[in-house]
Order: sequence, then structure tokens, then C-alpha cells
Amino acid sequence: MSKVLIIGAGGVGRVVTSKCAQHPSIFSEIMLASRTKSKCEEIIADVTRSTGHSHLRAAQVDAENVPQLVALIRSFNPKLVIHVALPYQDLTIMDACLETGVHYLDTANYEPKEEAKFEYSWQWAYQDRFKEKGIMALLGCGFDPGVTGIFTAHAAKHHFDEIHYLDIVDCNAGDHGKAFATNFNPEINIREITQKGKYFQDGQWIETEPHAISRMVNYPGIGPKNSYLIYHEELESLTKNFPTIKRARFWMTFSEEYLTHLRVIQNIGMASIDPVSFKGQQIIPLEFLKAVLPDPGELGENYVGETSIGCRIRGIKDGEEKTYYIWNNCSHEKAFTETRAQGVSYTTGVPATLGAMLMLNGQWSGSGVFNVEELNPDPFLEKLGTMGLEWHEETNVDIEFEV
Ligand SMILES: NC(=O)c1ccc[n+]([C@@H]2O[C@H](COP(=O)([O-])OP(=O)(O)OC[C@H]3O[C@@H](n4cnc5c(N)ncnc54)[C@H](OP(=O)(O)O)[C@@H]3O)[C@@H](O)[C@H]2O)c1
Repeated sequence: MSKVLIIGAGGVGRVVTSKCAQHPSIFSEIMLASRTKSKCEEIIADVTRSTGHSHLRAAQVDAENVPQLVALIRSFNPKLVIHVALPYQDLTIMDACLETGVHYLDTANYEPKEEAKFEYSWQWAYQDRFKEKGIMALLGCGFDPGVTGIFTAHAAKHHFDEIHYLDIVDCNAGDHGKAFATNFNPEINIREITQKGKYFQDGQWIETEPHAISRMVNYPGIGPKNSYLIYHEELESLTKNFPTIKRARFWMTFSEEYLTHLRVIQNIGMASIDPVSFKGQQIIPLEFLKAVLPDPGELGENYVGETSIGCRIRGIKDGEEKTYYIWNNCSHEKAFTETRAQGVSYTTGVPATLGAMLMLNGQWSGSGVFNVEELNPDPFLEKLGTMGLEWHEETNVDIEFEV
């Protein structure tokens, strides 16, 4: 029986609130706090109706303001903060957790607003302070990062003596019926996918032009889809935590239509994060673009099709070369029926809730800052299916696609 504070009332926040409320014996009291309190109230009304959990509360907070966060944490006194607002707020929320002695969990690594750059260095720098305080920070507990790290840890523990090649393959074969929309926060999403590509090979990072490398990847239950090599944050922690890895890459599907929209957005300057003066005001084009694009939280209703995300691994077991594929497919419609959120929010919110459960029941514990793959994958994967994300594995499959 624990109190939990969820910060961020977007698509992912909706799923986390809903999933926590389905487990009242663990999450006995839930507070959902965000910049806009009415969004929390709306989610809470839906979740109370669908789950019957009667101890849900809404609050307003600016998660970039440490004193406000500290005051809110002290007034509610949770055991854990689940941060599913934006990556810009990772450090302020970690600061507030340190000041109040409360555990922390997030799904995306810190990004400074003024530079589209994401890396773990800022959050890993909190290691000693979290250790000294005797509290735990769990980083990147969504799907990717998150389940992809746990899939890799499971492969390392149960299937390989050494992992040599890791390809994370991420397909969204869903259709929301809009000409162009992003599946999570448009500002964060566009910053991520317009960056240069990057992958790890033989101890070095190799940079490519954005979307310069693509391959057809065959996704289970979906079929072949053009997949583009992009940089993704879990590559940084996985290559550090599994030093036998010789090459690690991340692939994501984009349709031609999507890439054309993206090119136009970039070419006309709307993806820029440099402020411009407009009618006497300083505005950031990408922030303005977010305001006119569909809200990812509203995409669920007409979303059909599935996501498929997994890890394709090659390495050595008992002196023999072995290939292995582990994945989950998630239906947008099923996610919406259960939580009124689409599949991308669902695949992020379910692992965050499950990670929180394991932290609260003591199956995942420790003092300091952890990436998910550093923890025991077994209790997580035992429950992931019953929490709504069934997973599958296959050995000795044809998984090779060379750069
Ligand atoms: N690991 C993964 O697999 C994965 C996948 C997808 C997304 N994510 C991460 O999940 C997080 C949430 O994504 P989402 O799609 O739910 O985004 P979203 O729909 O844009 O929701 C973000 C929420 O954060 C709130 N927020 C923003 N700034 C705030 C502040 N200063 N103080 C308090 N609240 C603030 C917003 O409040 P207002 O609406 O009131 O402005 C909004 O409700 C993001 O960090 C994203 O990177 C991870």
C-alpha cells in the first residue's frame, strides 16, 4: 500500500494513472499533477469511472520549479514520483526527489530545451547523491527506452554468453487517419527524429545524415516495412552495460508521406528551436508547430493497426553462434478500449507502471541511479503480459541486415 505521485497529464500520464488505479493494493493513493490541473481532473474522472479506485487526486504544478515540486511532494508524501511530463523536467524533478527523499522513475532522458541533444550524462551525474540519500532513480522505464533494455538483459541472462550484435526494431503500422501527426509530444518527437543518425560499432559512434540508411525489416504480424537508422538513447546505456556488444543500432519505420511532411517542416524552418520575433513576441517555431498539430493524446479514437517493437540479437552461447528475436505487438484499438489512449502511450505507460510496482514491492531496489537493464529482468517479464503487453521470443531466426 503506497502513495504515488504521477507528474504529466498527457497520453502517457493517462495510461499510467489508469494502470496504477487497476492495482489499488499497491497504489493505494494516487495523485496526478501537471501544468494544467483540468487535464488531470479529466483523466481522473475517466479512470475513477473505469476502475472504481476512489483515492485519486489532481494537482497543479510547474515541474520546472523545484520549490513548487518540493512543496507538493511534502504535502502528499508519496513513496515514489513517476515522471511522465517532458524530458526537460527530469533534473528539476530529480532535485525535488533528492530534497524530499522520494524514489524517482522516468521514461526519457534529460534534454536541455535550447539544444536538441539527449544523453545520460546529466542524470548519471546524480549517482552519488541518490546513493548517499538511500533512494533509487530508475531511468528510461517506458518501451524504448525501457522494455528494449529489459529484453536485452533477459537475452544476456538466459540466452547468450556474449551479445555481439544488437538491432532494436521499432515499427508503428498504425493509421490514425490524419495527414500528419506525431505519436507522442510533437516537440520532443520531431527533435528526436530530425537529428543525425548514429550507431555504435567496434567501440566507436558512427554518425550519419538523418534517415540516410534504411532497410526493409520484416515485422511479425505486419510484414516488411522500410525502417530507418536513427539514434536512440538506450544505445548509450546498453553499450555501456553490455560491453561485449560490437555493434548496436536502432531502426524505426516511417512512411514516405510522413518523411515528406517532415522534410517540408524542416525546409520551411518550422522544426527550428531558435527563437524568432513575431508581432513583437519571441516564439520558437517548433513550439508553435506543436500548438497546431493534432494532440497525440487525442489520436486514439480512430487509430487502427499495431506497433511492433523488439530486439534482434546475435552472439555466442556455449561456443556456438546464436540468433534471437524478442518482441511485443500492441494493438492501438485494444489500448484505446482499455485506457482511452493510443498504442504508443500505452506501450510507454504500462512498463512505467510495472517498474513502479516492482520498486514499491521491493523486487527492484537499490540506492543510486539505474538504467532498467541493470535490474533483474525476470520479475518484470513475468508480469508484462498480464499487464497488457504480451511478448514473444524466437531463436535461430534470420535476423541479419547489414549496413
Ligand atoms: N520510453 C518510451 O518508450 C517513450 C515513448 C513515448 C514517450 N515517452 C516520453 O513520455 C513522456 C510523455 O509523453 P506524452 O506523449 O504523454 O506527452 P504529452 O502528451 O505532451 O504530455 C506531456 C504532459 O506534460 C505536461 N507538462 C509539460 N511541461 C510541464 C511542466 N513544466 N510542469 C508540469 N507538467 C508539464 C504537459 O502539461 P500541459 O498539457 O498542461 O501543458 C502534458 O500534459 C515524454 O517525456 C516522452 O518523451 C517515452
